[in-house]
Amino acid sequence: MRRVSLTQYLVEQQRKQGIVSAELRLLIEVVARACKSISNAISKGALAGVLGGAGSDNIQGEAQKKLDVIANDVLVEANEWGGHLAAMASEEMDLPLSIPNRYPKGEYLLVYDPLDGSSNIDVNVSVGTIFSVLRCPEGVVEPDEKAFLQAGSKQVAAGFAVYGPATILVLTVGNGTVGFTLDREMGSWIMTEEKIEIPVDTKEFAINMSNARNWTPPIKRYIDECIAGSTGPRGKDFNMRWVASMVADVYRILSRGGVFMYPVDAKHTGGRLRLLYEANPMAFIVEQAGGAAINGPQRIMDVQPEKLHQRQGVILGSKNEVELVGRYYSESK
Ligand code: F6P
Ligand code: MN
Repeated sequence: MRRVSLTQYLVEQQRKQGIVSAELRLLIEVVARACKSISNAISKGALAGVLGGAGSDNIQGEAQKKLDVIANDVLVEANEWGGHLAAMASEEMDLPLSIPNRYPKGEYLLVYDPLDGSSNIDVNVSVGTIFSVLRCPEGVVEPDEKAFLQAGSKQVAAGFAVYGPATILVLTVGNGTVGFTLDREMGSWIMTEEKIEIPVDTKEFAINMSNARNWTPPIKRYIDECIAGSTGPRGKDFNMRWVASMVADVYRILSRGGVFMYPVDAKHTGGRLRLLYEANPMAFIVEQAGGAAINGPQRIMDVQPEKLHQRQGVILGSKNEVELVGRYYSESK
């Protein structure tokens, strides 16, 4: 079998398809290299003293773990000097970070969640890194928050790494969704999924059931029907999975189908997940794999962001299932 590395894949996209510029290729490779280093730190766990709290809160008032801070620093250090970025924004930083003046500036903006699912770190369950790439708007020299407020449909690339039993990188540059596995001995990302396709139908749903009493009618209707299984209107039994790391739940859906939901509810009135760091990149990846991603009434990638750290309802995965949930939203108006 021909072993295709991430570099080869990107060069091929650049040469044959003309969709990846040299600068974008460098950017993706730098992020992927940072993910290797985060994977390495995570895999050492308590031996490297990286578990536990950092003793600080992020902008959304969530307690930061040591690894949230380490992962964020790794991504900043890896990306600030290469000349491919104009600025970056992270779930763990209050404001966008401009590239220091001593380094050249590039044409892209990088947005990321350095360590998704970080409540799972201390219990040795998969976590990950999610990223999204936007173009810096024309004429903007010092990008501030406004430069980042672009709809998900403007993304030029998105990806995520899952630090699980194997470390996997999922990527889209707008030409399908591909998967790479980290070969630890060689230190390289090897393509292991050339064209990820999410089955359009599913018998598996993922939602935090402890929010059930807060759900809106369309979500309650959909989940009640799944639970009714073969005795209800769906006429088939469903199974449920909830890892509580979006990266792991979405990777499962990319592998075998399913629907993942963190909808707006009475407790999470604007949703729970972040639009720029989580919802948009995952929506792009899922759509490029033949799935769908909505916030309830609307396609996620059509939402115009108003704030950097804005949250959003998320329902994504197998196309027919997501469309059914969307129909329940329009019928409940
Ligand atoms: O980053 C937010 C996140 O950790 C996601 O990875 C995950 O899907 C969700 O929150 C889990 O939320 P909860 O703690 O409500 O299950
Ligand atoms: Mn997250």
